[in-house]
Amino acid sequence: MNMDALIVGAGFSGSVIARLLAENTKQKIIVIDSRDHIGGNCYDYVNKFGIRISKYGAHLFHTTRQDVWNFISAFGSWEPWEHRVLAKIYPRDDSDDFAYAPVPICIQTIQKLYDSSVQNEEGMRRWLVEETRSIKFQAPYKNSMESAVARFGHRIYNDFFHSYTLKQWDKSPEHLDASVLERIPLRYNMDDRYFTDPIQMLPSCGYTGVFQELLNHPQIEVRLNTDYFQERHCFNGVNFTVFTGPIDGYFASRGLDRLEYRSLRFEEDTIEMGDKDTVMQPASVVNEPSMRVPYTRTVEFKQFLNQRSTHTTLVREYSSSHGDPYYPVPNERNTKLYATYQQLAEKETEKERRTVLFLGRLANYKYLNMDQAIGNALDHWQRWIKDGVIETHDVN
Ligand code: FAD
Ligand code: NA
Repeated sequence: MNMDALIVGAGFSGSVIARLLAENTKQKIIVIDSRDHIGGNCYDYVNKFGIRISKYGAHLFHTTRQDVWNFISAFGSWEPWEHRVLAKIYPRDDSDDFAYAPVPICIQTIQKLYDSSVQNEEGMRRWLVEETRSIKFQAPYKNSMESAVARFGHRIYNDFFHSYTLKQWDKSPEHLDASVLERIPLRYNMDDRYFTDPIQMLPSCGYTGVFQELLNHPQIEVRLNTDYFQERHCFNGVNFTVFTGPIDGYFASRGLDRLEYRSLRFEEDTIEMGDKDTVMQPASVVNEPSMRVPYTRTVEFKQFLNQRSTHTTLVREYSSSHGDPYYPVPNERNTKLYATYQQLAEKETEKERRTVLFLGRLANYKYLNMDQAIGNALDHWQRWIKDGVIETHDVN
């Protein structure tokens, strides 16, 4: 086959590298994906009620990296969008009363659920000191229960984190590294946005539209329904492979244990609303930290970019241990195991004279936001040029 470079995976990692290769070299590039669509986990489509749905869960683009934004904003058209999330909280075990409160925890969360007199940063600090006064846990914390209770107190811990973590990880916070809940933000102000990054955007024609433009180049050919492990023999002639699939899959023949992932199951429900602007939920995403329901959150896709439809589609997310790999499971076993795979990957890159490169969330066994996946691809590209892995030519 007359191909110079093979890219395995049509998500952001693979598609950005394909585009850079196409624009800066004369190489012919083939992008394969085992799925029947481009876009990786960011893929979205418009359903029969005219509502754009993200097949693998809601995706909000946000970044602090201007270079990432400069690069990706050239593909598709984008609109500013500030994401807000509410959690459905049942304050009393003996009652079905509930309230919606913003996450991450900020002043409005406290006002809504615990103390309406908290008004400013000083009040927030004072309230938290009171709330955690009797708590004896001291850093370094032994686990996530200790680190969260020490920061937030028992009430917030129980209302927001205990059951939610149990549902999400199938493990109580007592059995998770302190670092897992240590990363949860806590705000001393009234900023109730989900992200604080200066750049927050959604693509007007969906992520799939962005990927169509990224991959639309005369030197790029896309082949779907093509699994690398089954069809790698077809690509023996290429002089450069970028692999963005699961690293333990690539080295499956070595007989090592497999890396552990959490997955998601989605349950979809469409309701007729009549009015085109009417929605069901008070926010696009409602988190469900309570054990009263088995799912972790409900996404109402119609709310993103204020789409209009006589219907609304709600998607409930259930955390699960089987299915597509979504979230790496951060524990000692997996960290050690990944280090072993990483050594194999480095040897493979050397053995093949740097022509097999491992990139992206699955190859690096790391949760990456979209901007990080794009940023990694841009950074790798710069390094490859510097190290002479890739020779570029003047396009014009
Ligand atoms: P992927 O998108 O997973 O692409 C890898 C591709 O490789 C896949 O299409 C796969 O089919 C293909 N592949 C794997 N193995 C093979 C094989 N053997 N042969 C051929 N093809 C193969 N990020 C944000 O910034 N904001 C968000 O709001 C956000 N929400 C998220 C919500 C969820 C539920 C999840 C799971 C992730 C979310 N992310 C979000 C992260 C985002 O999905 C990732 O940053 C992005 O998908 C990473 O791109 P990637 O190319 O590295 O991996
Ligand atoms: Na998300």
